Amino acid sequence: MQLLSGLVKTTVPNYLSGLPIPDTFGGWFRLGFKDWLSLVPPTAAVAGVVYMSYLAFCPEARPKPSQKANNKIRLEEAKVVDMIDIEDIAEKAAFCRCWKSNNWPYCDGSHGAHNKECGDNLGPVVVQRKKN
Ligand code: FES
Repeated sequence: MQLLSGLVKTTVPNYLSGLPIPDTFGGWFRLGFKDWLSLVPPTAAVAGVVYMSYLAFCPEARPKPSQKANNKIRLEEAKVVDMIDIEDIAEKAAFCRCWKSNNWPYCDGSHGAHNKECGDNLGPVVVQRKKN
C-alpha cells in the first residue's frame, strides 16, 4: 500500500511536473524534439485510458463478431445439407439451428452457452412423431 501511496503522491506528480507542457499556445511551437519525445508516453497512456473507456462504455464501438452463422461445421463444403430419414427418428429429435453443436445436425445444448454470451434466444427445432 505504501508503494501505491508513494506512486500517487510523489512519483506521478514529480513526473507530470517535469513534463515540458508550455504555458501558452505558442509555446507548443517552440518545443524541441526531446520535449515532444518526452510527451509521447503520457499521451499514449491517456489515449489508452480514453480508448479503453470508450470500448467499455460504448458497446457499439466493440469489434463486431463474424457475420457468419456457421463458424465450425464442415466449413470446407459450399453448403451444409443433411438428409435424415423420418423412419430413423425414434420418437423425437432436436436439430440444431445455432450452428454451435458438437453433434451436428442434432442439438447438444450448445445454444445455451451462445445465448448466455450473446443475449440471443436460439434453440433447436424438435421433430416429433404424432402420437396415435
Ligand atoms: S446446439 Fe444448436 S440449437 Fe442446440
